[in-house]
Amino acid sequence: MPTIEIPAAKTSYNCPPDDTILRAGLRAGLGMAYECNVGSCGNCRFELIEGQVESLYPDAPGLQERDKARNRHLGCQSRALTDCKIKVPLREDYKARIIPRQTHGELIAVEELTHDIREFRFRLETPNPFLPGQYGLIGVPGVHGARAYSQCNVTSTGEEWHFQIKKMPNGKASGALFDQMKIGAHVSLDGPFGNAFLREDSPRDILCIAGGSGLSPMISIARAVSQSPGLRQRKLVFVYGCRSRRDLAGESLLRELPGFGTTIFYHAVLSHATEEDAWTGWSGFAHEAARDIVGGKVADYEIYFAGPPPMTEAVMRMAIENKAPVTQLHYDRFY
Ligand SMILES: Cc1cc2nc3c(=O)[nH]c(=O)nc-3n(C[C@H](O)[C@H](O)[C@H](O)COP(=O)(O)OP(=O)(O)OC[C@H]3O[C@@H](n4cnc5c(N)ncnc54)[C@H](O)[C@@H]3O)c2cc1C
Ligand code: FES
Repeated sequence: MPTIEIPAAKTSYNCPPDDTILRAGLRAGLGMAYECNVGSCGNCRFELIEGQVESLYPDAPGLQERDKARNRHLGCQSRALTDCKIKVPLREDYKARIIPRQTHGELIAVEELTHDIREFRFRLETPNPFLPGQYGLIGVPGVHGARAYSQCNVTSTGEEWHFQIKKMPNGKASGALFDQMKIGAHVSLDGPFGNAFLREDSPRDILCIAGGSGLSPMISIARAVSQSPGLRQRKLVFVYGCRSRRDLAGESLLRELPGFGTTIFYHAVLSHATEEDAWTGWSGFAHEAARDIVGGKVADYEIYFAGPPPMTEAVMRMAIENKAPVTQLHYDRFY
């Protein structure tokens, strides 16, 4: 099995043939930087000093030509073919809180949430818990490359992982999940991953902003807050941005939580409401509505957000303009 050496950190780890340089490093307890795990963000780049690697996704958007010219590779998409020496920054805050594990999941239930969002529930062959707000990688049979999906449930044992997934136009994995997966079908699962997890030790109220498919991790966070003795007295403001009335989701799930209407508040924001929608609630963009809903006091909140990159970047700009320190921002861009 290839050994990966990081000379600057005086450390090394094994990388099995079916693993990647990044994920094997995280499994070995190293704080390797990453975000998406699917080749899009570029945060997992490393420089290959010695040895040979193979890319699982040679056209991945996270790697530019100039990176390739400098012998840089994406850790999340690189398999080691020989022993390697690499240069990569290690950071304490990237160490996995729960060591990710590769396993399989059996589809045990599917529930329709909107015309294009469904909840898929899997039972794990080897249970592994996750923190609210984290994500797993689903390998869908017949689809090249695993996709990242955030869990919406809360679990201490990790026997089941539930995901709220939006069907993307021409999407290979989401399309296969919606159209081909039947109860009893199996997928490969890996995780948990991600650093946008619930901070149990924060003294602040909580602002969750979800855009479209970003619903899932925000629901997990809201559910965990409602169960947490340390957090359930806090105010949780949940803002869900979508296009029109038929996309509305999340409110019925939050209504089930103790504290709904007293500490937990749901606000939907429609960006493209039509006359037929007869919508009298918040309109426009979720980041602007969220700012106005909390009366501009964004910096008083621990802020969690998830959704497509333009939405997450708009939330980030809004939060920084409103003086929220970056340490209070926890997000995943859904590439
Ligand atoms: C951290 C994170 C969390 C996410 N959570 C959710 C969620 O909870 N719910 C939800 O609906 N969506 C979520 N997404 C988006 C989801 O991962 C998919 O991008 C989306 O479902 C579209 O996938 P698709 O296969 O249907 O579309 P496609 O257009 O077929 O695939 C697009 C995605 O697949 C990746 N990809 C394409 N080819 C390869 C390959 N060969 N190897 C590896 N990757 C490849 C792309 O980089 C891109 O991310 C999340 C994304 C990220 C990064
Ligand atoms: S973590 Fe590898 S490209 Fe995003």
